[in-house]
Amino acid sequence: MNTPATPTTPERTLPFLALGGLFEADDIAAAARVIEAAGAPGGNFFPLPEENEFQAAFAAHEGARAAVAVNSCGTALDLCMMVLDIKPGDEVITTPLTFICSATCASARGARIVFADVDPATLCLDPAAVEKKITPRTKAIIPVHFAGLAADVEGFDAITKRTGVPVIYDAAHAVGTRRHGKRVGGAGKASCYSFQSNKNITTLGEGGAVTTDDPAFAEEIRRRKTFGFVYGPQLRVVTTGFNYRMTKPQLAVGVTQTAKARRVIDAKLANMKRLSELLAGAPGLILPAGLDEDHGAHLYVVRLDSTRASFPRERWQAHLKTRYGIGTALHYPIVWSWEAFAEVDHDRTGCPAAERACREVLSLPVFAQSKPEEIEYLAKSVRQSLEDLK
Ligand SMILES: Cc1ncc(COP(=O)(O)O)c(C=O)c1O
Repeated sequence: MNTPATPTTPERTLPFLALGGLFEADDIAAAARVIEAAGAPGGNFFPLPEENEFQAAFAAHEGARAAVAVNSCGTALDLCMMVLDIKPGDEVITTPLTFICSATCASARGARIVFADVDPATLCLDPAAVEKKITPRTKAIIPVHFAGLAADVEGFDAITKRTGVPVIYDAAHAVGTRRHGKRVGGAGKASCYSFQSNKNITTLGEGGAVTTDDPAFAEEIRRRKTFGFVYGPQLRVVTTGFNYRMTKPQLAVGVTQTAKARRVIDAKLANMKRLSELLAGAPGLILPAGLDEDHGAHLYVVRLDSTRASFPRERWQAHLKTRYGIGTALHYPIVWSWEAFAEVDHDRTGCPAAERACREVLSLPVFAQSKPEEIEYLAKSVRQSLEDLK
């Protein structure tokens, strides 16, 4: 092992930014405009017309018939589980390679979480693995468009056609994602997006949306997110609902952020492709699959091939930071490793590809604003760091 005995100061620092997209003067102006208007005589913070504008713009951006704005992707998933009436005795199938709420949205309603394996090439939930876990109790399937790469939408459509089980996509990583050139917002029963700070668009740090091609489903989500209200000459409350609304300044920023989403994704994707070119053939690294025009470019996730590396991923991650000033992130520890799962009824059998991937993945700092020389430094440092630890 040739790690230098004395630590050297890194040539640069490349932090893993907590702001995933671009937040610019037009976004600040949009928020300021509604805040100022609310403060003027007779002003208010009621969400119209910004809510309608944002929902129409976001639905169009994702190729769906409808979008319902909510205050997070976690909330969006909760609402979908509610509308599907997920309850104790039901089973919901999802991927182990995900953020906690893709699974806990269902367990929170008393359902058993059934994990199925990912496709080792794409790291997205594998329809063939899902098929093996379907039982008469299966009430929903929740694939994730991992890192911005679309899951196998046709494979899941075929499962729904054969079994009737609805698919709710966790599209937290998937603003702008397409599958074979087609935007994925209308896929399955619905898709749940996130506009939290590290996503490619953000609505002031938190936010989400449910998109769907089913107007009745959209209406149910709309009711549940606003106390069960149905507006008309007389307000009615038709179901148990909650208040999961986005605020007016967030909605105004949603419009400007959606307008620039393509620019963010294109710039980020170009940087990701360049990094892949520079890392091609690096011994012991597995580069991300599917970085073509359809990719939503949320994360650049490499894998340290555990069949070849003589050191653990954590050691590599720490070395990148201390020796090269490179910040990284882990997406994700396997979801059932969180303590909460001790109390969650789940089936984790038969997921070797996800278990291996979760030990190997590391997200590198690639952003829309990364400069060519930063991408070059990143590639050079990644290669050198692997050499250092050999
Ligand atoms: C795959 C996935 N699903 C859901 C979420 C939750 O999103 P939010 O923070 O908007 O609730 C995240 C957040 O990072 C995520 O990565």
